[in-house]
Amino acid sequence: MVEFGKEIRKRWLLDEDVAFLNHGSFGACPRDVLVAQSEWRTKMERQLVKFITVDAPPAMKDSLEKLGVFINAKESDIVFVDNATTAVNAVVRSLMWKFKPGDELFTTTHVYNAMRKSLHYAADVTGAKVVEGVVPFPIQSADQVVEVVKQGITDKTKFAIIDHITSPTALVYPIERIIPLFKERGIPVMIDGAHALGMLPIDMDKYGADFYTGNCHKWLYAPKGSAFLYVDPKHQKEIHPTNISHNYLTSFKSEFDWVGTHDMTAWLSVSAALAFINEIGANNMRSYGHTLALDARKMLSKSWGANVVAPDDMIGMLATIALPGNPKHDDKHVVNLHDRLRDEFHIEIPVIEMDGHVYVRISCQVYNSMEEYEQLDRAIKKIFA
Ligand SMILES: Cc1ncc(COP(=O)(O)O)c(C=O)c1O
Repeated sequence: MVEFGKEIRKRWLLDEDVAFLNHGSFGACPRDVLVAQSEWRTKMERQLVKFITVDAPPAMKDSLEKLGVFINAKESDIVFVDNATTAVNAVVRSLMWKFKPGDELFTTTHVYNAMRKSLHYAADVTGAKVVEGVVPFPIQSADQVVEVVKQGITDKTKFAIIDHITSPTALVYPIERIIPLFKERGIPVMIDGAHALGMLPIDMDKYGADFYTGNCHKWLYAPKGSAFLYVDPKHQKEIHPTNISHNYLTSFKSEFDWVGTHDMTAWLSVSAALAFINEIGANNMRSYGHTLALDARKMLSKSWGANVVAPDDMIGMLATIALPGNPKHDDKHVVNLHDRLRDEFHIEIPVIEMDGHVYVRISCQVYNSMEEYEQLDRAIKKIFA
């Protein structure tokens, strides 16, 4: 087995002087995958027109087929898009013409803000309203999320976006129990799995979601600008990319394959990212990151005298941690906290606000090791002293 921690970190370009505890925001691409992308770019630039029209389409299909195997989806039901935001917009903007004044678009208070805004856009255009189920934080059990969703669905609910792993609070939502709540009422539900692809085993066939998106450029190690959108065959005719282009009304697949000229090498490099995961072992990767997340969270919470904010079974390779004294957003210690940690202490970590309190969110990748969280511990104790 490849040695995780400091040893495998050499396979990334990450700055040696920085404790990089934020894989979650934009991922981090291993050198091998960047080399593969660079090779695709070279091929493209050597014979551009032939590459785009002849060579790229089968290579893209091959990349999607491999991704399909990884997430248990048919290649015919998934398309590449640049990011999860693009996928959500495609779905929301395709469906919103059906929404009427008074209709409800459901999500929870932990939704990623860009997705919240796309729901608000649809509401502004159509007179529908956005309803956010209030998920408590700290949280004791995944049952609480299921209950909030149950209580939030009404006769007026016409669409929902549910996170697979929430962005500010790093909670794994029990989507296997949530999706049926919408399905049994015939309400289309989209799962935002931006963080889930790579971090968790994904089984599209089992979930039965209407729509699902995952970012390849986060926990799958692919280059920036790669994500997928799954659409249940029964909806494929009505879902169009936000960029309407040449292939409008040809087929679901071909509409998304061409949304205007762009660099598709990130999509083509998903094959290389999957090869990298195969090499290190998906299960090894997940178990290393999950164990590190639980251990680091326990160590930091204890050292900071803070409550653990979520049960272990709602945590993947990402964990949100309360700071000493559970500060509010106007606390003097949290002013510029992110920039201070980066500039004075050489630690890159997101500082997050939820329900008026401020937290840090650690990512635990195979290139991270406990020493880096100990470095964070010392820095926070110094700032909060
Ligand atoms: C839950 C969730 N959805 C979507 C995104 C954004 O993805 P993108 O910017 O690639 O569209 C993030 C980013 O952190 C996220 O946490």
